[in-house]
Amino acid sequence: MITSLPHVILALLPVVLAAPAPAPLPTPAAVATKAPSPMITARAVLADRIEQRDIIDSITGLGSYLSSALGTYPSYIASGVPNFFQDFPTGTAVESSLGISDSDLAATPTQVLNIPGYANWTEQGWNLRFRGNVYKQPNISESKLNDLANIFLIGTSVEALPPAEATQARNLTAEIFVVQQGNVNVTMHIEPAPSQGADGSSSGSANAITPGGGAQTIDVGETTVEGDFDTFIPLANVSGSGGYLLPGNDTTQIQRINVYTNGTDTGNATSFLVPTAGLTIISDIDDILRVTRIYQPADGLLNSFAKAFTPWMNMPSIYANWSQSIPDFHFHYLTTTPEQVTRNYMDFIYKTYPGGSFDTRPLNFSDVSATLSIRKFLLEKIFQSYPKRKFILIADTSNSDVMKDYPAMATEFPGQVQCILLRNTSSTDSGDKFPYDTSGFKGLDNSTYMFFNIPDDLTGLDIVNGQCVNSTIKQNITFSTQGLPFGLSKKSGAVKVQNGLTGAVVAALVMAFGVVSGVL
Ligand SMILES: *[C@@H]1O[C@H](CO)[C@@H](O)[C@H](O)[C@H]1NC(C)=O
Ligand SMILES: *[C@@H]1O[C@H](CO)[C@@H](O)[C@H](O)[C@H]1NC(C)=O
Ligand SMILES: *[C@@H]1O[C@H](CO)[C@@H](O)[C@H](O)[C@H]1NC(C)=O
Ligand SMILES: *[C@@H]1O[C@H](CO)[C@@H](O)[C@H](O)[C@H]1NC(C)=O
Ligand SMILES: *[C@@H]1O[C@H](CO)[C@@H](O)[C@H](O)[C@H]1NC(C)=O
Ligand SMILES: *[C@@H]1O[C@H](CO)[C@@H](O)[C@H](O)[C@H]1NC(C)=O
Ligand SMILES: *[C@@H]1O[C@H](CO)[C@@H](O)[C@H](O)[C@H]1NC(C)=O
Ligand SMILES: *[C@@H]1O[C@H](CO)[C@@H](O)[C@H](O)[C@H]1NC(C)=O
Ligand SMILES: *[C@@H]1O[C@H](CO)[C@@H](O)[C@H](O)[C@H]1NC(C)=O
Ligand SMILES: *[C@@H]1O[C@H](CO)[C@@H](O)[C@H](O)[C@H]1NC(C)=O
Ligand SMILES: *[C@@H]1O[C@H](CO)[C@@H](O)[C@H](O)[C@H]1NC(C)=O
Ligand SMILES: *[C@@H]1O[C@H](CO)[C@@H](O)[C@H](O)[C@H]1NC(C)=O
Repeated sequence: MITSLPHVILALLPVVLAAPAPAPLPTPAAVATKAPSPMITARAVLADRIEQRDIIDSITGLGSYLSSALGTYPSYIASGVPNFFQDFPTGTAVESSLGISDSDLAATPTQVLNIPGYANWTEQGWNLRFRGNVYKQPNISESKLNDLANIFLIGTSVEALPPAEATQARNLTAEIFVVQQGNVNVTMHIEPAPSQGADGSSSGSANAITPGGGAQTIDVGETTVEGDFDTFIPLANVSGSGGYLLPGNDTTQIQRINVYTNGTDTGNATSFLVPTAGLTIISDIDDILRVTRIYQPADGLLNSFAKAFTPWMNMPSIYANWSQSIPDFHFHYLTTTPEQVTRNYMDFIYKTYPGGSFDTRPLNFSDVSATLSIRKFLLEKIFQSYPKRKFILIADTSNSDVMKDYPAMATEFPGQVQCILLRNTSSTDSGDKFPYDTSGFKGLDNSTYMFFNIPDDLTGLDIVNGQCVNSTIKQNITFSTQGLPFGLSKKSGAVKVQNGLTGAVVAALVMAFGVVSGVL
């Protein structure tokens, strides 16, 4: 099993296993009733925007060709993000290279990433998803952090960055090099959430309300060997000072609850009890809610790794309008960025966009069909939780998995996809040399999806009533590979570039030429 799992974290298992059996988290001091800020530390990110692996991997030998052609580019740029952690030291190498001893590690506090969840209404009442990770953060010296951080930087080094960026890069590195804690029992305490608290507005996710009761302690169970937990658990209908939880088939309002992890103050989250019927937006983050530009690798890595997160144009005001004007609109942020960097994403989102539940790439993917994309797995999970809700799906064209998985949801869950909104990164960013494939949209009702250029294209759309298309935005959809450089996309039909190479190869070649000629 271990060998089938790619993440370096698994390579850290020997460290975990060598350590004494982890103690259960200590019982905490009494949980305060006042609303805390649910989100905790910021983390930088090596975002995983390019899900090109599947198209690239399908071409034998391309991976090694690209690594050689791309020269100074780390291999994970070419091979796709699932291999992202490949270049990290592994196993005992981590322990020895970092000089971590078991006793040093044992002395560091246990931390918990608690990812804001969603609950659906079932015969047993509310059924809440608990998801997160238990880990310890070794104390790594600054010079060692610099060395490790430099692995990620293209054409620069931590030492050459402005101080704030260098700090951010070291911070990120430290947070990636954590040691997950397997087989630890996790206990959560739930309280009604007086305010959403972390999104810079007082009301949070649309009109989410504070339930009258529901305070309780939940035994979430043991973490996996990778330190993860991800499970749905029914909530008891406990009364509180303001009454009970409202049943999900008898309200349209979203109820918010704070979920505190016992034994640490690093594991606070606000989760959402989402009614049976209503409208949910599932939103990607990179290059739709923030500027990432990983399709320009050097730039993308700096944006992800060292620079402060920046919203993409005026998207925050589009979301703010939706949050305020659409009653009981549930926001769910679904990104395939690695779990280790979730805190950074949450920190940015809750400061900039409406509150909502969250999904990122789980560490252990062994229980999922290898052919299933992580995004599809996460999408199916939320769709299966709400067979009667409708969904707005939003992202950008630079993810090959989005281009396949979003339209596939419309086919798999008929009637549940209300709108698909995709920013065309190629149309506004000439630096995006990666093509995108619109063939997944063939056969879908063209009033249910729109490709757009800038956030303003979304203004005035009545998405609640199914108006997904701004007729002033020219669509140009060929249902084939588009966005090829050199105007190749203007050529006919299913674009077959010479020698049977796909668009991805062409883009990669262009990138390689760019490297050689200094364009990129
Ligand atoms: C968790 O915290 C709650 C509230 O403080 C407490 O009632 C419960 O006993 C704790 N559980 C464990 C296992 O520590
Ligand atoms: C990273 O930065 C955050 C926010 O500034 C801070 O809370 C956290 O402790 C830092 N982590 C490390 C490992 O330095
Ligand atoms: C709501 O759900 C509960 C539990 O499934 C069920 O007993 C009840 O009849 C439902 N009420 C309505 C109005 O559908
Ligand atoms: C981390 O290690 C340095 C150097 O060994 C030490 O000075 C510092 O106190 C340690 N920090 C923590 C939080 O243990
Ligand atoms: C976790 O809790 C279960 C049930 O209470 C118990 O059987 C198990 O031994 C505990 N595991 C650890 C590692 O403490
Ligand atoms: C909880 O119980 C109360 C009192 O019986 C009832 O009014 C309420 O609908 C129940 N809520 C849920 C979520 O079951
Ligand atoms: C988490 O919640 C607890 C209880 O309200 C609070 O004491 C703690 O400061 C919170 N932690 C953070 C990082 O906000
Ligand atoms: C609630 O969500 C779970 C997990 O996705 C799903 O298996 C179950 O069918 C859902 N229940 C209902 C009534 O929708
Ligand atoms: C949608 O499809 C219809 C015919 O199926 C076509 O007339 C119309 O131009 C299409 N709209 C767009 C925006 O492509
Ligand atoms: C459609 O093509 C036009 C002309 O090339 C371009 O300006 C526009 O941005 C494209 N539309 C989209 C949604 O990509
Ligand atoms: C459509 O897009 C244009 C251009 O961005 C924008 O001015 C307009 O408000 C949008 N909405 C509608 C309904 O036309
Ligand atoms: C705000 O959102 C509502 C609901 O979708 C929409 O009807 C309205 O036109 C939007 N306003 C702007 C300025 O986009």
